[in-house]
Amino acid sequence: MPRTLIEPFRIKSVEPIRMTTRAERERLLEAAHLNVFKLRAEDVLIDWLTDSGTGAMSSRQWGAIMEGDESYAGARSFFRLEAVVRDITGMKHFVPTHQGRAAERVLFTVACKAGQLVPNNCHFDTTRANLEVLGVEALDLVIAEGLQPATVHPFKGNIDLARAEALLKEQGDRIPFGMLTVTNNTGGGQPVSMANIRAYAALLERHGKPLILDVCRFCENAMFIKMREPGYENVSIKAIAQEMFSYADGATMSAKKDGMVNIGGFIVLRSDEWMEAVRNLEILTEGFPTYGGLAGRDLEAMAVGLVEGMDEDYLRYRLRTAEYLGERLDAAGIGFVRPTGGHAVYIDARTVLPDMPVAQYPGWALANALYLEGGIRGVEIGSVMFGKRLDDGRETFHSMELVRLAFPRRMYTQSHFDYAAEVIADTKAHAAGIRGVRIARQPKYLRHFSCECEWV
Ligand code: F0G
Repeated sequence: MPRTLIEPFRIKSVEPIRMTTRAERERLLEAAHLNVFKLRAEDVLIDWLTDSGTGAMSSRQWGAIMEGDESYAGARSFFRLEAVVRDITGMKHFVPTHQGRAAERVLFTVACKAGQLVPNNCHFDTTRANLEVLGVEALDLVIAEGLQPATVHPFKGNIDLARAEALLKEQGDRIPFGMLTVTNNTGGGQPVSMANIRAYAALLERHGKPLILDVCRFCENAMFIKMREPGYENVSIKAIAQEMFSYADGATMSAKKDGMVNIGGFIVLRSDEWMEAVRNLEILTEGFPTYGGLAGRDLEAMAVGLVEGMDEDYLRYRLRTAEYLGERLDAAGIGFVRPTGGHAVYIDARTVLPDMPVAQYPGWALANALYLEGGIRGVEIGSVMFGKRLDDGRETFHSMELVRLAFPRRMYTQSHFDYAAEVIADTKAHAAGIRGVRIARQPKYLRHFSCECEWV
């Protein structure tokens, strides 16, 4: 058997990458105020800012786009997608939304009230923000291993059941439902085991609480279960996904991830009562519930994409890609969140810049250095993203300084990954020349998107 795992697709349509020199990138980054969010995408060689909505669609998906029924109400494309979603999730009710955060906003507005509390393994930023804006507390209860970058555990996304149980006993009256995010993006794209989903659902049920899954990356999670959880070796990805959904009462989905589309999302629910309120709210802001803010062609692309996302050969290649980059980083002595997750590799910037003070933002400095060295764009997950400038001018810092490299689906080949591995290793070799930054201008919220920086 050949040992090389090939990309299980051929390329039919290409998009050129504009090559840049280091001197050009220095000028471009300065013009972007040392913030890679402010770069033009054309000035990036390898764009690993996010895996969300950035992937390549298949020829089947592009074909399906021509079949889009753009009727306002009751379009054929809606019923085609509904059948696919019902088959996978087993849920009675389905409405499309324009993306994941819209699904969150609509569902939470219907199902939560101010003063309540929602436990999760880790809430993604938009999930947390959509709860907090309603006055609801968002609590992260991932297992301890999930917060230790170097600790290897097969299911680092699991929720801590003992803490969840204590919370339900002490504050159950404040909890409208429990959530679980698969895979756990905030914790490194780490999977949740079937045993953990089953036990958490049973715990919630004993307390009379529904389980809502955030299923952006349910296919990657299912593949990890197949590869790592005894008893699932010979179960199909679809059957694993069906079992995951069988324990839940509802789910929110950003189809921009495992739905393999550039835009789209949905809500599924078992409850008639919640769904009636969801449909009413959808009409107000997303659109009529059979299109939910999308064009009919987008629904068609999603119907095909959800099935392609469950393809085992694709998923094996996908998870192997992240693992492969991890091996290359390991060989270069660079630390990262272990084991590698489904959609991304999270570099531990402190292993490249051990002596840089946190006040000079080593994660941010590394993200800038990767762009300068080889035109790679990742995202800092560290003290620029999660730290704060207090009113008295002092700063708070984050516990970790990570750079996330998130991989668009079916877009970059092995040679892109080999190139990136070289660039990252060269960056480490030149670490003595990497400069820290100070923040010159920043907005009050979500400062990483728009802050302006200067070299220290
Ligand atoms: N939940 C999770 C776990 C996510 O990762 C995201 C998006 C969302 C919800 C929101 O979905 O973007 O369609 O509104 N994550 C992207 C990322 C943006 O880069 O990790 P959306």
